[in-house]
Amino acid sequence: MTGYTSNFIDRSYKPSKNDIITTVEVSPAKNVDFKTALQNVAGESSVGTWTKVKTTTKRIEKMAAKVFWYDKKKGLAKIAYPNILFEADNIPQIMSSIAGNIFGMKTLKKLILLDIDFPKNVVKSHGGPLFGIRGVRKILKVKNRPLVGSIIKPKIGLRTKQHAKVAYDAWTGGLDIIKDDENLSDQKFNPFKDRVIETLAMRDKAEQETGEKKVYMANITANIDEMIERAEFIKKNGGRYFMVDVVTVGFSALEELQQENKKLKLVAHAHRAMHAATTRSKDFGISMLSLAKIYRILGADQLHVGTVVGKMEGGKKEVTSIERALRENSHGMKKTFPVASGGLYPGAVQKMVKIMGKDIIIQAGGGVHGHPNGTFEGAKALRQAVEATMKGIPLKKYAKKHSELAKAIKKWGTA
Ligand code: 3PG
Ligand code: 3PG
Ligand code: MG
Repeated sequence: MTGYTSNFIDRSYKPSKNDIITTVEVSPAKNVDFKTALQNVAGESSVGTWTKVKTTTKRIEKMAAKVFWYDKKKGLAKIAYPNILFEADNIPQIMSSIAGNIFGMKTLKKLILLDIDFPKNVVKSHGGPLFGIRGVRKILKVKNRPLVGSIIKPKIGLRTKQHAKVAYDAWTGGLDIIKDDENLSDQKFNPFKDRVIETLAMRDKAEQETGEKKVYMANITANIDEMIERAEFIKKNGGRYFMVDVVTVGFSALEELQQENKKLKLVAHAHRAMHAATTRSKDFGISMLSLAKIYRILGADQLHVGTVVGKMEGGKKEVTSIERALRENSHGMKKTFPVASGGLYPGAVQKMVKIMGKDIIIQAGGGVHGHPNGTFEGAKALRQAVEATMKGIPLKKYAKKHSELAKAIKKWGTA
């Protein structure tokens, strides 16, 4: 008899509000039936192993995860995990259970972790965003429209002074936000500390000249000690934000960073570079929706969610479901601002706002710095596209009286 017994399936089980619930898509390997595959998944991710072991007791059997719902035709199932299996403040441990060994099992042809519902103690022991959509809007003093930003391009290579100047041009052209790219950190040609000082000086100048609030999101991605030092440096020099590549630095580093940031109180911008290594495959993987929920719990005030119309993979259904999850009520957690970034340009703004709503951050790198007349006019064009959208005027019509937008549309068209 296998250790992954029928004990792991119980359709009459009513999940407790303290359980962690996962939704999975499962397809059994050849010669394995669907129920056996489900027993394998729920078993291996809780108290089971491949054979029955003598050390199992009645008490331990009660700790088994339960598949309490499944649809064989659709290959879907829901699994409830008793709270006792977890350390609430330890996301790595939780993921080692619910998303650990199971992805490697030979009995499966397909396994996607589609969704996770976390109970109150997991949410509360981390806390979620410090600012959320409201807090970010308050800092920027922008109540109603999408926020607009840019990533300095080329993504890597500019020297510090050039970087700061490009930021200044984009801010004075009308953008709210400037961020580093995911792979810019502390390289010789553009050292982190110099960059923070120079770019924040330009931010102050741009704020004075425009009368608007501007933010700079410096990428602190590194090992944990270094990240904390970089975040402290930003704080000491008058910055309000940091950016971190949440997937590559890992859950444990984020937990530590979150604790430190409770003292520093900086806005946390989460770039998701490398997410597609786990979210893109149709056979084995963890959905972006699941990751988004985790990053919200871990304190992301802003998170890249996809663009629907841009350069990266991710359709309307997926992106809007992530947006909903970032804004849904969850044990008093603040809402995470969805960020649309990757292959965007002014002509895409109207369609994006139609799909994603106005509570989004729209970022364009190439779509600003690639403007025929450069960064300043590129930034103007992007802001004009947002203005037109908020006024309900078609972009092409608005472009008749706004030459910067007209040039952007001529180059890249509309979505
Ligand atoms: C980039 O760095 O080009 C993009 O921000 C990636 O976009 P995504 O995180 O929305 O997929
Ligand atoms: C990002 O990190 O968000 C991007 O680099 C987006 O760049 P793009 O607008 O040039 O695609
Ligand atoms: Mg990038």
